[in-house]
Amino acid sequence: MIETAQAFGIDIGGSGIKAAPVNLEKGEFAEPRLKILTPEVSTPDAVAKIVRQQLDHFEVPESAPVGIAFPAPIKPGKPLDFMANLDQSWVGVDVTAVFSEAAGRPVTVVNDADAAGLAEQQFGAAKGKDGLVIATTLGTGIGTALIIDGVLVPNTELGHLILSDKHPDAEKYAASSIREQEELGYKKWAKRLTKYYGLLEKYFNPDLFVVGGGVSRKADKFLPFIEIKTPIVPAALRNEAGIVGAAYYASTKQH
Ligand code: BGC
Repeated sequence: MIETAQAFGIDIGGSGIKAAPVNLEKGEFAEPRLKILTPEVSTPDAVAKIVRQQLDHFEVPESAPVGIAFPAPIKPGKPLDFMANLDQSWVGVDVTAVFSEAAGRPVTVVNDADAAGLAEQQFGAAKGKDGLVIATTLGTGIGTALIIDGVLVPNTELGHLILSDKHPDAEKYAASSIREQEELGYKKWAKRLTKYYGLLEKYFNPDLFVVGGGVSRKADKFLPFIEIKTPIVPAALRNEAGIVGAAYYASTKQH
């Protein structure tokens, strides 16, 4: 790991496990990231092996804080009680313990959307924003982070809101993976996103929505067509936010 990096971030997603050393002064990668495909059967063992592989590839020193963004609500030291998009064998597992053992050092685990929200709040589109910011990630699922006057309320799972009787799990209707699966055009997808963000707007009255995930690269194709009153902007760190946020979060936990 090169010297300009103060921490290491890993983002575990439904399709890829991405990692990079992070420069925390700038809030950006210190070296190009490495993406390894998520194993088809994404058990704790299989995913932990890739975490190890990432640390070895970048020769991460033991003194560097390591943060891992994980696609489920995380309570350190407690067994996981819900998993949407990785293997169900994660349920009941202490995620932090599994990764710390594989890494041969203590690591910090944080929900992936919370990591992305923290990165946006620290370095990106939500920097210096007061009031309520809802940062969302549109990927395999939908992740959410609630940030109130700069303070994160962790582990919100608003990607699973009930939209209607027909759509009892919002992410199964409006996630980016669903747009791909159903081959929806961006405008058609934006209609679904209007329903989703409209519901969040109705119940939370936020001051700003930030939209992240890989598809935020194409924000101009769908954001202008989401018809809500609240300002809605693309994530400034795009798909890098999970890695940067996890690294940042780990650095705040290490003393
Ligand atoms: C999970 C969340 C996660 C989101 C994005 C959802 O299915 O329940 O914890 O943040 O996907 O990965």
